[in-house]
Order: sequence, then C-alpha cells, then structure tokens
Amino acid sequence: MQIDGERMREDFDALAAIGATAAGGVDRPSLGEAHLAARRWFLERAAAAGLATRVDAAGNHSALLAADGPTLLLGSHLDSVPNGGRYDGALGVVAALHVLLAVRGTELPVALEAIDFTDEEGTLVGLLGSEALAGTLARETLRAPRGGRDALLAGLARAGLREDELALARRDPESLAGYLELHIEQGPVLERAGVQIGVVTTIVGARSYALVFRGAAGHAGTTPMDARRDAGLAAAAFVVAANELVVRDFPGCVATIGDLHLEPGAYNVVPGSARVALEFRSGDGAELEALETALLDAARREADAQRTELEIAPVGRWKPTPLDAGVCDAIENAAAALGLESLRLRSGAGHDAQAVAGVTPAGMIFVPSVAGLSHDPGESTAWEDCVNGANVLLGAALRLACR
Ligand code: GLV
Ligand code: MN
Ligand code: MN
Repeated sequence: MQIDGERMREDFDALAAIGATAAGGVDRPSLGEAHLAARRWFLERAAAAGLATRVDAAGNHSALLAADGPTLLLGSHLDSVPNGGRYDGALGVVAALHVLLAVRGTELPVALEAIDFTDEEGTLVGLLGSEALAGTLARETLRAPRGGRDALLAGLARAGLREDELALARRDPESLAGYLELHIEQGPVLERAGVQIGVVTTIVGARSYALVFRGAAGHAGTTPMDARRDAGLAAAAFVVAANELVVRDFPGCVATIGDLHLEPGAYNVVPGSARVALEFRSGDGAELEALETALLDAARREADAQRTELEIAPVGRWKPTPLDAGVCDAIENAAAALGLESLRLRSGAGHDAQAVAGVTPAGMIFVPSVAGLSHDPGESTAWEDCVNGANVLLGAALRLACR
C-alpha cells in the first residue's frame, strides 16, 4: 500500500493557492477568510472522494473512515502565521487525507480520522482545537488570549463557533487509539544530517507574555533627554537584555520579542507606551520556570531604569511534552521498512501533538526543511521528502492500527 504522490501534490498545490502570497507562501491567520476557505476546501475534497466528514464544537474539521473500534487520529492544521509558508501544517493535513484514501477498502480494527485542528499557530489562542479535543482548553486562556480578546471573538463569530461550546469538542480518551502528525521539521537538523525522516521524541514548552511599558508621552523637541520617561527606550533595552541573558545563561533555550508597538507612534512624540510580545521556550520544565523569572526580572529592571511602569499579562503556556515511546518505535520501523534513514530529535516548534499527547499515545514524523527555514514564505521541502513522510505516516498508522 502506497500514497499516490501525484494526487497528493495536486491537492497540496490547490490548498497552497488559498491565501497565496506574491512571495510564494500563504497568509491564513486563524479563522480569517483565507483560513476558513482552506478548511472548506478540505471538507469538500474529502466529501468529493466519498469520505464522511464532520466539524466539531471547536471547529476541528475531519474526514473519516469508520470502523468498529477506537479512532486513530492523523492530523495537523491549515492556519498559518502571518505571511507564512505553504508547508507548515498543510502537509500534515493533506497527507492524513491521502492515508485515508490509500487505506480505503482495507478493513482495520480502528477508525481513521484525518483532522485539521483549529488555531494551532496562536494568532488567536494557540492549540485551541487540539486542547479542546484533549479537554485542557482553560477558560483563563480564552479570557486573555495571545491575539487579544476582540480578535478571538471576531474569529469565532466568523467561523460560526460559540465560546461556551468549545469544550464540547472533548473526546473520551477511551474512544482514541492514538495520534500521528506529519510535519516539516522547520529547522536544519535533518538536512544537515542528510537524513530523510525525523522521529520526534519531545516537544518544547513555551510561554507567552504581553508586556506593556508605560511612561509619559511628550514633545520630542522640547522634552530634555534627562526628563523623559520613554517607554520605547525601556522596551528596546529589554529586547537587548532578553537576548543577552538567554545567550549567556540559558544555552539551548530561546526567547523572542516578535512584536513591539509604540504609542502614540509619531516622529515628534516621545513614546508614552510600548507593547511587547514576549515568547520563550525550553525542553525542560524547571529551566522554563527559571527562564521566566530571569526574563521578567530583566523587564522590571529596564522599566525601573527608565522610570516607567510595567504591566505583565500571561497569554499562553504550553508544557514540554515527551511523545509516546511505542509510537516513536512504530514510526522508526515504518521508515526502516521503506528503506528510509531516520533519526530521533526534539521539536523546537509547538504542535497539536503536544495537546493530544495528554489523552492518547502521540507521535510525530518530521521531513527536512530546505535551509531549515520556516514561518516564512520561503519555507520549502523537496516533494520527494513530503511523499516519503506521507508513506511513513501510512506505515506507522497501519502498525498502530494493528498492534
Ligand atoms: C508554531 O508553529 C509555533 O511553534 O509557534
Ligand atoms: Mn505547524
Ligand atoms: Mn507554525
């Protein structure tokens, strides 16, 4: 049994045309019009192929191959970061669909479900659909989401979803047989090693904070340099300090200030406030905790140095997550059976597998990213590698189905 690589490519290209950008990527932020169109495409493509489909209370979109037995989930996501690439998430969903098409007609002791999870990227919340399915989507997370409360409510309304019903997407763990996700690596490890398949052992934990430095706006020509309470300066000093402290004290960790917004925002006004989007990651829970303390202390120090106030709001929290050892073995064996070389590695990116791993044995297959590039329109993976990954997904699914 094999994936039809050519048909999969046609589908992948059709999907990449939805929300396509001039630079060759896609712009499909969660629950925006392009994302909703991509999700409609997925359901229509599945229905046209004769598969049953469904949308749950969290907006997760699924294609189904029914059977008497628990459900083996195969999935990823169709939303993208702003101005993102065409492979992140989309490859896993299209490959999952093609596994169902390849398996159709064969009787299995498990049902197969290709699932497109809602809002993986966190332009709104992050892992919204997969956490709802796992039963771990917290009320506080919805009250203070990464993308802001107004954007979340607008997105839910556009998708016809109700906040008070999202939790109904929870699945009974007894009803699940496991979860597999094919994804591009988004880093340079596989390409550098010249290896076709990555077997993910752990997904790093991440935390996000919305910080606001509040100083005093003032005339840029008349406010003396020593009389300023410049919120922009405090934020800029924090950006530099955060980078320095991670490099110096937390090797193996990352911290990013991915957005910085000054107000009122004019050439001739000293910034009165600066909003900073801070995110940091580690593969170890205790280290993540220590990194958080160090970063927030640095923010307080730079705020004090410029005589500004600092507001700190947590807007996202994901634990480091080991993936299932038995599923890792199944992936490795599936790759070996296809004559593909594999290596085990950690994921520095977040994934839906991280949420689903809490309720059912979960595993991830990585394929090489050209130059390790991702979250960028230039993101690319050789098509042969994509098909290899899909065939490993198929092989691993069959192994898990029949164990
Ligand atoms: C998702 O791609 C993330 O790691 O932020
Ligand atoms: Mn992704
Ligand atoms: Mn991503």
